[in-house]
Amino acid sequence: MCGIVGYVGSKLADSVLLFGLYRLEYRGYDSAGVAVIDEGEIEVRKDQGKIRNLEKLLKEHPVEGNLGIGHTRWATHGEPNSVNAHPQFDTTKSIAVVHNGIIENFDTIRRDLQKKNVIFVSETDTEVIPQLLNFFGKEIKNDYELLKKTIESLHGRFAFLVIMENKPDKIFFSRNGSPLVYGRSEGEGFLVSDSSAFIASVKEQYFIKDGEWGWISKAGIEIFDQEGNKIVPILTSVDHDLTQYEKNGFDHFMLKEIFEQPSVVQKIIDNRITAEGKIHFPELALSNDFQAKLFRVVFTSAGTSLHAAMIGKLYIERFAKIMTEVEFSSEFRYRNPILEGDTLVVAISQSGETADTLASIHSAKAKFLKVLSFVNHLNSSIGRESTGIVNLFAGTEIGVASTKAYVAELVNLLLYSLYLGKLKWIVSDEEIGLILEEIKKLPSQIESILSKAEDIRKIAVEMREKRDFIFLGRSFEHPTALEGALKLKEISYAHASGYAGGEFKHGPIALVSKEVPVICICPKNEVYIKMVSNLEEVRARNGIIFSIYTEGDTHVPSLSNYSFSIPECSEYIVPILSVIPLQLLAYYVAIAKGCEPDQPRNLAKAVTVE
Ligand code: AGP
Repeated sequence: MCGIVGYVGSKLADSVLLFGLYRLEYRGYDSAGVAVIDEGEIEVRKDQGKIRNLEKLLKEHPVEGNLGIGHTRWATHGEPNSVNAHPQFDTTKSIAVVHNGIIENFDTIRRDLQKKNVIFVSETDTEVIPQLLNFFGKEIKNDYELLKKTIESLHGRFAFLVIMENKPDKIFFSRNGSPLVYGRSEGEGFLVSDSSAFIASVKEQYFIKDGEWGWISKAGIEIFDQEGNKIVPILTSVDHDLTQYEKNGFDHFMLKEIFEQPSVVQKIIDNRITAEGKIHFPELALSNDFQAKLFRVVFTSAGTSLHAAMIGKLYIERFAKIMTEVEFSSEFRYRNPILEGDTLVVAISQSGETADTLASIHSAKAKFLKVLSFVNHLNSSIGRESTGIVNLFAGTEIGVASTKAYVAELVNLLLYSLYLGKLKWIVSDEEIGLILEEIKKLPSQIESILSKAEDIRKIAVEMREKRDFIFLGRSFEHPTALEGALKLKEISYAHASGYAGGEFKHGPIALVSKEVPVICICPKNEVYIKMVSNLEEVRARNGIIFSIYTEGDTHVPSLSNYSFSIPECSEYIVPILSVIPLQLLAYYVAIAKGCEPDQPRNLAKAVTVE
């Protein structure tokens, strides 16, 4: 969603802001803009569409100045045009604001100010911030009082930056629910949505917490808590792993990330399985006593992470025999669910910033429950607000369509369920040993699937004209069917639905025709025969079948128009392998249709608003 960058120092602000905005591009956006204080006056450049439009504008109409703010906007209030793009202003154009999140009481504030003859020009909720600052600023001359009063008037989840012509050395900020990070280097200050937007010279950072606000200047940061008390931020070092932000010869980040999966799984193995063959989660921070007594687990997550949670449920029920539920975080947060002691709420989130998942954590904590989060960024909001944490070790994921993070979620969930099972004396060391041996084979098995990517590309080219797809799977492969369908629709804009194979006859079978390919995930497992029945049902209606099957099986390919094999393995391992050809299918269909897979329309990498 929206990306924020602020800079004060001695470099030309526009170039630092553009660099940061390009780095935040992966979050998803539909317009971009900057405001720079140039010889005492605020100069703004903004446009709809890609950052390159803004860059062109800056080349044609340069700005000079060493302090500024920039923004990529993902439209919520008002269509994505240049008027609604950020920065937004007050009527005098002497205060500029960039904002991520939603000001929930914007309509009330707007009406109140309109009654006092304030004229609004955009349809955004954001515009109330500069207008309020201007309005209150007529009476309040003190920075501290002005910002505090303005923030106290706003309800919602947000992070914003403000620059003012009459305070040309400062960037003001506030965070309440949307991410914001302060970065520092010699004589320079930065405020960004995530650390990837820092230039290489930034060595120290501070993750601003909810309720905190203040300002930065070349000299440093002044920061206050919600009550207005001054606080001293503890800075930590910045990890600049630049390889994460390069495509390294791949055409797209998504393809690069699909191909990174063997090394991601290897990293998890290296960090989670000791030389003695024990599973460990050093960062977990939940007592063994508490985990051994667990009676119930409730997963809360969204999208791809929800599909991982569905498989996590099957793992935990199988290996730890704990009653487990999976909840859409968007539903869980409003449902006032029945939650009592001995229940662990588990949040799964690649970004660690998904608004609904974060709100679910708040509801669980309000009922005094412990929350364990599986996140890719330990310093993310979800990571910081949870009782315990599991690092996914997926590495930064740039492609909007989640691939390697999903596989990392599955491997960590499998390991965690075995860990819980051992604590509860449900699963034997021998069984754990056998599964760990299988997990260790995963990197080479994934490599072998990826080495056949060209086979999937050819199938994708033949399917590129199709507008509707059905994905079927049973047991561990039902969530895989949902995930395969989600990947395809996200980036190729084809309509795709995933179903449990047993549900097929209850409705979806009506859609079968040559125009609606059915993707069947039918490895050799306990429900193999049932999936074969699904294949027969499609064949009997002259449907088109693409099947994922276990190496060595000849029956499934003989029933299918297209087929792709995955290595033989136990049913717990299959979902980690079977999703990979489906990720490739989605990618290659998108490419064959001329779509841009890294930044699909309307989607954002981190859904930080409801
Ligand atoms: C994945 O391909 C999607 N872009 C999306 O469904 C995503 O998984 C969902 O928004 C949840 O994100 P999170 O894992 O960062 O919480």
